[in-house]
Amino acid sequence: MNLADLNKIAQAMVAPGKGLLAADESSGTIKKRFDVINVVSTEESRRDYREMLFRTTDAMTQYISGVILYDETIWQDAKDGTPLIRLIERAGAIPGIKVDEGTQALPACPGELVTAGLDNLAVRLKKYYDRGARFAKWRAVIDIGSGHKIPSMTAIRVNAHALARYAALCQAAQIVPIVEPEVLMDGDHDIDRCYEVTQRVLNKTFQELRVQRVALEGMILKPNMVVPGKKNPMQSSLEEVAQKTIRLLKACVPAAVPGIAFLSGGQSDEDATAHLDAMNRTSNLPWRLTFSYGRALQAAPQKAWLGKAENVAAGQRAFAHRARMNSLASKGEWKPDLEAKKAA
Ligand code: 13P
Repeated sequence: MNLADLNKIAQAMVAPGKGLLAADESSGTIKKRFDVINVVSTEESRRDYREMLFRTTDAMTQYISGVILYDETIWQDAKDGTPLIRLIERAGAIPGIKVDEGTQALPACPGELVTAGLDNLAVRLKKYYDRGARFAKWRAVIDIGSGHKIPSMTAIRVNAHALARYAALCQAAQIVPIVEPEVLMDGDHDIDRCYEVTQRVLNKTFQELRVQRVALEGMILKPNMVVPGKKNPMQSSLEEVAQKTIRLLKACVPAAVPGIAFLSGGQSDEDATAHLDAMNRTSNLPWRLTFSYGRALQAAPQKAWLGKAENVAAGQRAFAHRARMNSLASKGEWKPDLEAKKAA
């Protein structure tokens, strides 16, 4: 492992004004997204859609530091035969790859999940590195139940252990791991319950990372923000989300971690941007704070595109707009009225 080079990639992933595009939906998840816009999910439609995003030159060169790909995409060619991964590199962005293989039921813990994909991971990482991937992602999923039984300590421990195993294997393969322990915002819990669970999850995750000798300078953390469950009628103000998220991260995330790139997790596009912006208005943070959004960057372009070649330009404008809004938020320079001035 060359830590100086891993650190250089990690720093580039969170470079000022830039963040990550999570375009790594599994075939099952992208089908759900395409169902909403009445597009049949085929290898070709998935390719056309992602090619549209990666050819959005202004967004890709100015606002997007890297793209998380799904296995299918990293081996796919654009319509003209150029590998999609080369489009990303040509734009000056870094290609990355989702390497977890989704979730499975966690034995003896009804309703809880553990992320799979450690078997053969070292072999797969080498292939992805040779193809050009310089960072990877693994997502652990922690649900908050309505009683106090979920999440169980078992679920938190096994998922933290797997995240650290994955991160250590990535660094040995000279790939920067994005460590993503996602506490879901489904449910009706309040913001303080989200705070408490996320705190347990982050503490356990960093404990495992230390045990397994992961170099914090060569990784990126991808956490949820501290928000109430979607079904809770008491929603929080921007300021409360920003203040509680920052307080929690300061308590749990060592300053050696170069950057924190949030997931959007089902927040509205504008909430995801506004929350990131509010946090970046805080001074003297030890790490860079940016975005690694899937839905909050892609819902708008999907709606504009609708699977039609004649809508590609509109899809690209919608993507570029969200990318620019989040770029501004990553510097604490976003304003709500900029949303209305969306490029026509
Ligand atoms: P969302 O921003 O849609 O939550 O997706 C980010 C991601 O990569 C989840 O693993």
